[in-house]
Amino acid sequence: MYDYIDIMKEILKVKRGDGSYSEVAIGDVIDTLDNYLPKVKKMIVITDENVYKYYNTFIDKYEKIVIGLGEKNKSLKTLDYIYGELLRMGADRGSYIVGFGGGIVTDIAGFAASTYMRGLGFGFVATTLLAQVDASVGGKNGVNFEGFKNMIGVFNQPDFVLCDISVLSSLPEREFRSGLAEVIKSGLILDKGLFELFEHNSYDDFRNNKELLFEAVTRAVAVKKTIVEIDERETGDRKKLNLGHTFAHAIEKCSREFVHGEAVGIGMRIIADVSLNEGLITSAQRDSISKVLDNAGLPVESGIPMPQLMEALKNDKKKESDSVSLILMKGIGECVIRKYKFDEINGIIKNAD
Ligand code: GLY
Repeated sequence: MYDYIDIMKEILKVKRGDGSYSEVAIGDVIDTLDNYLPKVKKMIVITDENVYKYYNTFIDKYEKIVIGLGEKNKSLKTLDYIYGELLRMGADRGSYIVGFGGGIVTDIAGFAASTYMRGLGFGFVATTLLAQVDASVGGKNGVNFEGFKNMIGVFNQPDFVLCDISVLSSLPEREFRSGLAEVIKSGLILDKGLFELFEHNSYDDFRNNKELLFEAVTRAVAVKKTIVEIDERETGDRKKLNLGHTFAHAIEKCSREFVHGEAVGIGMRIIADVSLNEGLITSAQRDSISKVLDNAGLPVESGIPMPQLMEALKNDKKKESDSVSLILMKGIGECVIRKYKFDEINGIIKNAD
């Protein structure tokens, strides 16, 4: 538990395609949930078994749909179950959905809400660090299909996202570290000062100092807001949010050993090497990136042989026929998108280091 400090709260409004705003509230905000909910006949919370155990006092005020745990449940089968429950509950166009949980819950709840009866209103309570700084913000909702992550989905931003900092104190270590990978990513993409927080503070500082964590989450959400407002539907700049993710998805396809943020951490190390090799960062900057990832306790390498990783990369859903776009660091706090042919990638990775 954190020491008592004054109530902290920050609200960032992310502009949506139709000109309205998705409101992201960060800080001591979980008790304000009712203020965000419209007056409707049917309020339905979608959550998972674990989150329900912790937060049943919040959730039991509403109707609920509880899904199973883990990435394997981010599937059409779970969606089928959710649609069935919505139907049985008598949910209609006037009903409202709250996704209450981590990234898997918010992704699937957002997709169910966006598609059931052509779309219901929805908002999120994001209970993991990864969901707060990435998954729940910006409107990517969807499910996995035939081994491909997020293959079926929509862009549709929630009305609100509550990112309560205190709920993060109960996260298991591994999940917390995984979320930190996405925060570090945000710093590398667009906020040098956020990256520097990781140079000057230890893992334990982020884990135990609520003010520091509040600042890190707020800055990471601000990075996402900036990019999503420029390119909500990922035709250009939003690809930058995928820094480290091309290799991460390949790693996750080849192995179940890593959680998402761990794979992103390994992906960022590979990209740091490539960026150094391409003359975009200095060796001091590459070393600093490695050190920051080490301090966050993120794994150094996947142990997956490069040919296997390349094969998975070739099957990436974002690939084009013979090439893939990589997001490279350009110094700290800036990045560039470069397209590589598959036969070039082997070379740039071998030459890195
Ligand atoms: N998670 C990357 C994005 O939202 O675009």
